[in-house]
Amino acid sequence: MSTAQSPVSQLLERNAALFADKHLLIAGYMEDNYPLVLATAAASATLFTTDYSRWRQLTALHTPQGGAVQLYFGHQLPAAAPAFDTLLILLPKAKAEAHYLLANLLPHLRSGSDIFLVGDNRGGINGADKLLAQYASHCQKLDSARRCSLIHAALDQPVNPFQLESWLQHYSVSVRGHDLRVVALPGVFSADGLDEGTRMLLEHLPPLRGRVLDMGCGAGVIGSALCALHPELEVEMCDINALALESARRTLAANQLSAKVYPSDMLSDIQGKVQHIVTNPPFHAGLKTLYGPTEQLIAQTPQKLAPRGSLLLVANAFLKYQPFLQKAFRQQQILAEDKKFRLYHSF
Ligand SMILES: C[S@@+](CC[C@H](N)C(=O)[O-])C[C@H]1O[C@@H](n2cnc3c(N)ncnc32)[C@H](O)[C@@H]1O
Repeated sequence: MSTAQSPVSQLLERNAALFADKHLLIAGYMEDNYPLVLATAAASATLFTTDYSRWRQLTALHTPQGGAVQLYFGHQLPAAAPAFDTLLILLPKAKAEAHYLLANLLPHLRSGSDIFLVGDNRGGINGADKLLAQYASHCQKLDSARRCSLIHAALDQPVNPFQLESWLQHYSVSVRGHDLRVVALPGVFSADGLDEGTRMLLEHLPPLRGRVLDMGCGAGVIGSALCALHPELEVEMCDINALALESARRTLAANQLSAKVYPSDMLSDIQGKVQHIVTNPPFHAGLKTLYGPTEQLIAQTPQKLAPRGSLLLVANAFLKYQPFLQKAFRQQQILAEDKKFRLYHSF
């Protein structure tokens, strides 16, 4: 079984007695697998994650002995989930996502239930009283260590049923003369407007053919634009984040387009070979800058490409991807660049 590695998990570990013997719902940003230890010690527990990579790890660790633990990956907890008496949220980086999680999960709690929020002091935990204001009349800090805090409140206010539609943000973009409606759930990349790097990629698309993968699709702008501009392409869209995947499905639907949308941790779930991978890849996880997944994507892409396939990648100009691209591919071109972004095409 995993141990507490992150500061948040270490803080939870020394307060583990609070969660034992409860009917516990755990959600939010899990940096390690320690939440499964807490869940296994509870009377019953559900772990809900929007992160496909974490879900795969938890599923692999989950043993029959942890029988009373349910694991869910998705953008919302199913309506039929059981009722809980304790909610623990590991605060995600985006405040909007924390509001969304509370609104989605609190209807599954009995009145008077315990709510615990835990997180990094630099990541919004100090605003917990505001987050909880409409649900609890009082909230208190129980513990803090390693720049993290644990907050408690009791659910003593009425909770409205969750309505996904009221959490959707909408905006329109014009891409090469084509108007696209973008639909996004809170915390999804570019939920408020098109990223300039993504715009550069779409404005400088080289000729593409066959099966094209929009890797890290976010709200689905790239994949939807490809479907709209080049209906002959076989477009697939993947992301690790369930809120992104649901947003991408809704963006496609809002534009009467269709494509295959599914979870994948970079190339983990991509079957067979693709002609092109098109991406504005991630370089953040939580509060940290993280290059690893994108470096891994670059290294593994050549084996995933069909003959004469290519990788089209846009990134902030300060990110040092060029050496990785040069190592993995025989040839590359820079299709566009400005002070902030660079668009690489590698074969
Ligand atoms: C910079 S955003 C780009 C989003 C979208 N393509 C756009 O251009 O607006 C990167 C996306 O990669 C996703 N992501 C992060 N880690 C990932 C991983 N390991 N596998 C797949 N997608 C990942 C993030 O959830 C995010 O939606």
